[in-house]
Amino acid sequence: MATKKIRKAVFPVAGMGTRFLPATKAVPKELLPVVDRPLIQYAVDEALEAGIETMIFVNGRGKGAIEDHFDMAFELEATQAARGKSVAALEGTRLKPGNAVFVRQQEPLGLGHAIWCARDIVGDEPFAIILPDEFMHGAPGKGCMKQMVDAYEQTGGNLICALEVPMEQTPSYGVLDPGAQSGALTEVKGLVEKPAAGTAPSNLIIAGRYVLQPEVMKILETQEAGAGGEIQLTDAMASMIGDQPFHGVTFDGQRFDCGSKAGYIEANLALALEREDIGAHIREFAKKLVG
Ligand code: UTP
Repeated sequence: MATKKIRKAVFPVAGMGTRFLPATKAVPKELLPVVDRPLIQYAVDEALEAGIETMIFVNGRGKGAIEDHFDMAFELEATQAARGKSVAALEGTRLKPGNAVFVRQQEPLGLGHAIWCARDIVGDEPFAIILPDEFMHGAPGKGCMKQMVDAYEQTGGNLICALEVPMEQTPSYGVLDPGAQSGALTEVKGLVEKPAAGTAPSNLIIAGRYVLQPEVMKILETQEAGAGGEIQLTDAMASMIGDQPFHGVTFDGQRFDCGSKAGYIEANLALALEREDIGAHIREFAKKLVG
């Protein structure tokens, strides 16, 4: 099907990261490393792999270090060069000039509000959203956003990443009311944000990745606060169902909820074990540790 190319991704990074205090008092949650790459770097790499060019960061106060991360580190690079040392590790931290755009969300009024803050930069074209604290680990060349963009080229419309969780966890998430399923695609009949215990329409949650049509921005403009008193992206998306195609994509890969401490530690352990330089050492250490 003929679809407009997904050229832009929005990264909402203006939240306060309260679950990681005090670590996130002065350091943005999105710069916490999994082994030696910050969460936001994995998210940007995932977007680049999917063919996305423009990265739009919705930033908040105290999060300027994210902007520095994607800038040139002139002194560091010059010093390393003078010492004859490699700066290969910085590969990927510099985007093409003009391809990193920063906008401010002055108050953390919710994910929907954060996305709406990027409306003028997104403009009138479909776009991706990546929540960097949901760390999606796919096979090389087959990251989560690449899988979603590939699916989008078949379905058009709107897509969210869908993930099965134990039913008792559904009150913490946006939940799908699923329709027909075909391979990795599930039709979305409805969406509900943080349903009360025992009321979720399924155990399929929205897992931090979206491909949306620009009409969502118009809806967000007048969206009232929803669950938790926040302006919810889920509510705006729910009101588009029926007018436009809406599908969930099941990600073929591993997902780590790095907004939670346990998920963050799991991600570090899993990625460390995969590494050629430290994997064997960590495996031996972990074996000794657990007896
Ligand atoms: P989270 O709720 O997981 O992040 O929002 P948080 O609020 O920073 O973390 P806790 O719950 O206090 O520990 C998901 C994503 O949406 C962004 C966050 O930065 C995170 O990447 N977000 C959330 C915003 O940009 N603005 C908001 O108003 C809310």
